[in-house]
Amino acid sequence: MCGIVGYIGEQNGIPIAIEGLKRLEYRGYDSAGLCYFKNKKLHISKKKGKVADLEELINKKDSSSIVMGHTRWATHGKPIDKNAHPHFSMNKKLAIVHNGIIENYDSLKEGLIQKGYKFRSDTDTEVLINLIEYIHSDLKLSLSETIQQTLTQVVGAFSILVMSNEDPETIIIAKNGSPLVIGVGKEEYYIASDPSPFLKYTKKAIYLDDGEIAEISRNKLSILTIDQKIKSPVIKQLTMELEEIEKGGYETFMLKEIYEQPKSIVDTLRGRILQETQTIKLRGFNESIENFKNSKRIIIVGCGTSWLAGLVAEYIIEGLAKLPVEVEYASEFRYRDPVIYKNDIVIAFSQSGETADTLSALKLAKEKGALVYGICNVVGSSISRLVNVGTFTHAGPEIGVASTKAFTAQVSVSILIALALAKIKNNISKNDFNQITNELKSIHQKMQFTLSKCRDNIKEIAKKYKNAKNALYLGRGVSFPVALEGALKLKEISYIHAEGYPAAEMKHGPIALIDENMPTIIIATNRRNYEKIFANAQEIKARNGKLIAIVSEGDNQISKIADDFIEVPKTNYYLSPLINIIPLQLFSYHIAKMRGCNVDQPRNLAKSVTVE
Ligand code: M6R
Repeated sequence: MCGIVGYIGEQNGIPIAIEGLKRLEYRGYDSAGLCYFKNKKLHISKKKGKVADLEELINKKDSSSIVMGHTRWATHGKPIDKNAHPHFSMNKKLAIVHNGIIENYDSLKEGLIQKGYKFRSDTDTEVLINLIEYIHSDLKLSLSETIQQTLTQVVGAFSILVMSNEDPETIIIAKNGSPLVIGVGKEEYYIASDPSPFLKYTKKAIYLDDGEIAEISRNKLSILTIDQKIKSPVIKQLTMELEEIEKGGYETFMLKEIYEQPKSIVDTLRGRILQETQTIKLRGFNESIENFKNSKRIIIVGCGTSWLAGLVAEYIIEGLAKLPVEVEYASEFRYRDPVIYKNDIVIAFSQSGETADTLSALKLAKEKGALVYGICNVVGSSISRLVNVGTFTHAGPEIGVASTKAFTAQVSVSILIALALAKIKNNISKNDFNQITNELKSIHQKMQFTLSKCRDNIKEIAKKYKNAKNALYLGRGVSFPVALEGALKLKEISYIHAEGYPAAEMKHGPIALIDENMPTIIIATNRRNYEKIFANAQEIKARNGKLIAIVSEGDNQISKIADDFIEVPKTNYYLSPLINIIPLQLFSYHIAKMRGCNVDQPRNLAKSVTVE
């Protein structure tokens, strides 16, 4: 969580940093701040609220060729002005911006208080900068050596930028567990949590690894490890385009990303289905084919929507490839001492590739000898660099906090893995393989059709239910995790309480909630459990519940008893999540907009959850 930026070069870095922070606001938007040189001294401007509020605060005449900035998702300390970053050290010799958590900040703070240190904020970050200041004055080391020494005492995940009053030409940065990337310009450097803030200026990037510290001045960059080894920087050429991270005429990123799904599926599937040879071309899978052949089970880990894509994958992989799959919340998996066998394959689903719990779950699985496989959307992300092998979803940057196109891209990769696995395990007929891959190759057309067809219908339905206090989402089989994802979308962007349930489970509790005020959204597109879900729909109507049904075109049973229904094109059972999630995303979107919510930046959330 939190976004950090830095600039050092010839230009005025203040507008560059402000613009960069706006691009990073998806990482947190509780407060924002800048540090730069003013009258030859470190100057900090910071404020609770969005980057736009900070912008108002900054004197337009200020100019500095060395700047660092921060947009916060609060961990330690409330989101108020004094806890906003950057933070000065007690004697204002140094300033810091920090993304992450210093776990042992309490004991470090205690030690500093005994040495006479006083604190202005409630943050762990201020402890770190005071510790750096103390060690700096005590040991008389250079600032980068001091930071190196200090970090050996620190437990936690962080990426930091530090500026000093004594050296207006240098920024020192360090990374351990939270992302940090350096953009390389001509006699200038950009620093950020991801490349979006500097994409406009340079596509040359250096990804810092964990345990690395870089000393950056206008025309010099040196990288050291915490254990004092010199590292030569590896410059990568970014392939991302600026248009990909802009709204492109849509009113929000979320809406743009919902509408981008057909394209993102085409991009994700491109070149990966070879029908002539009946093969699936996934480099990560093929490089670990022996592991897949010998494996007795797959464990999928993830958080939030990525965990839900993992649940969809469980239905698809078990259904097609007949290999047992377990799906776990990464946060539970890592702390419950799980039994992991050497021939297990642990697959992490993560859009950002930075989610702290997922990253730690993978580290644990790797330590225990399992093959770790990543399904990520961000090239160069921590998870993509940690895994043994993996497959990228090519959904393009997802900026809206609510995950949409990443989910469908993850599901499409799951289908590919299931097909590849079914092939090597001889569990799929030629006919079924062809039928599913044919459908998959054209699924983007049905997604496009769904998007166009549902547009007005869903808005009308959303109008009717926008004041609901609660909502229930039901599905069976592979539609059950889709129902969960629909419920998650509604609660995170519209703040309406919503629950997802397997439709049959309703009778075991949630049915008690049904009355004339309670909308239930039921996914009823699949023939294989249609009669059962029809019975569930009737149970809701018998109790005067409001029923919104997602049905296949031409449906004439459930649509007749539903208060509202949305027709979607028919498709293969395993591919149906790619279609069925679309009306649910749009439903939440329109309800949230009608309730006046900020759908791209819902309250309390951040896009990339890099703390536990
Ligand atoms: O980047 P990741 O896919 O690892 O993120 C996981 C979750 O934090 C994320 O899916 C979150 O639940 C979204 N806000 C859901 O829309």
